[in-house]
Amino acid sequence: MYDESLDLSTPIEWDSPAEQESAIAFFNAAFRAEESGLRQAHELADDVAKWDPELAECLKLYGDEEGWHRELLTEFLAYIGGDIRPMGPTTGTFYKLYARAERMDTIVLTNLMFETIGSTTYRLALRTAKPRKQIRQMLTILTRDESFHVPLNVHFLRRILEHEGGGSSRIQLRAIYHLLTAALVASSAASRRRAKNFDHIPFETLARAYAQQLGKLFAHADDLGFVPSRLLLAAVGLTKRDLQGYEDLVSADAAEAAADRSRVVVEAL
Ligand SMILES: [Fe+2]
Ligand SMILES: [Fe+2]
Repeated sequence: MYDESLDLSTPIEWDSPAEQESAIAFFNAAFRAEESGLRQAHELADDVAKWDPELAECLKLYGDEEGWHRELLTEFLAYIGGDIRPMGPTTGTFYKLYARAERMDTIVLTNLMFETIGSTTYRLALRTAKPRKQIRQMLTILTRDESFHVPLNVHFLRRILEHEGGGSSRIQLRAIYHLLTAALVASSAASRRRAKNFDHIPFETLARAYAQQLGKLFAHADDLGFVPSRLLLAAVGLTKRDLQGYEDLVSADAAEAAADRSRVVVEAL
């Protein structure tokens, strides 16, 4: 990954100051996600090292990749005339709660859901933001790698659940899944206020894509038992049928396909 660098040789001509400001907000949100992912992955690696050194190594490398994204985003934010800013109230609340999570399964599930939201947003923005080669390069790297992180985190979650055993933790985890799905779908409203002048994703499209992706994610993982509520799906105009008929997003094959860096496709959601 360190061989790849951003081509920032020519400046971006923005359509308006509002578009530039929104782009800075968009990539600041991405920066915070990387920062949090990096910290949690490395902390988990330390815990996991006690019972599975190979899995710990994998978590460490995964955290390193988030660290690389953070470096790229730091460079990119300076290039687009921005800097790293304090988090807004919605984002701040999410990360504060996330940082307080202690159980390994809760941390990995939360991370997995953040990865899903991230890759969904980047993939949509690739289609709807004004096409500029520098922005496309940054978004393509993030879409590609976050898409790979989704099946990777499902693998982490399965291994950690195996290690911890079933029981009450599974019920608690399902409650967290429902709560987070609702909160993340609702958070698309806050992100629209800040980033829509840049990514041009309508609120309805983003909220529906979040609900659908978070639901589809586990459509082939009955063992985990995460199924979004009918009510939440109905609120964004979906039914359970809309989550079916997709390929398995969390299989080893999906991970392998997403890891092939030359084959990132901007698929329709
Ligand atoms: Fe990342
Ligand atoms: Fe990631």
